[in-house]
Amino acid sequence: MAILKIARMGHPVLRSPAAEIPDPAAPELRALVADMIETLADAGGVGLAAPQVHRPLRLVIYYVPASRDLDGQEQPLRALINPILTPLGDEQESATEGCLSVPGLTGLVPRYTRIHYAGQGLDGRPIEGEAQGFHARVLQHECDHLDGILYPARIVDFTSFGFVEELRKPAD
Ligand code: NI
Repeated sequence: MAILKIARMGHPVLRSPAAEIPDPAAPELRALVADMIETLADAGGVGLAAPQVHRPLRLVIYYVPASRDLDGQEQPLRALINPILTPLGDEQESATEGCLSVPGLTGLVPRYTRIHYAGQGLDGRPIEGEAQGFHARVLQHECDHLDGILYPARIVDFTSFGFVEELRKPAD
């Protein structure tokens, strides 16, 4: 196991579409996921996409902690390989996001409220389900990384975008 270096906004690996994974059950993929889990735990956060650790592959890990379990959708940590997201309806909602590749910054990002997700697990078996609220948001954020999209590109209201430390200061 190892803590991996996280690419920051501006690095080309974060701007390129990631490659499909032909064999989700490959041993080297299991090792990469173990390293990504360790890296996420070290950095703090709820999700990490393989391109963020300089591996341009269609793989994300994420979880929904109980503290963000606003919709009754607490999710254990898991890997999702070759994910495909499909919005369920047109409804979107905005909430603040941050990203380990965009350290120190935060902004309001509109996301689909409900989505269907499909992909494969590390055993190669299909995974699918529906997600809403924070769970749907995390999936959309992480899967955007696989298409070379960082959350600032999704921001509509740029008055919401800035450094966490500044935005938390009381206005005077
Ligand atoms: Ni991110």
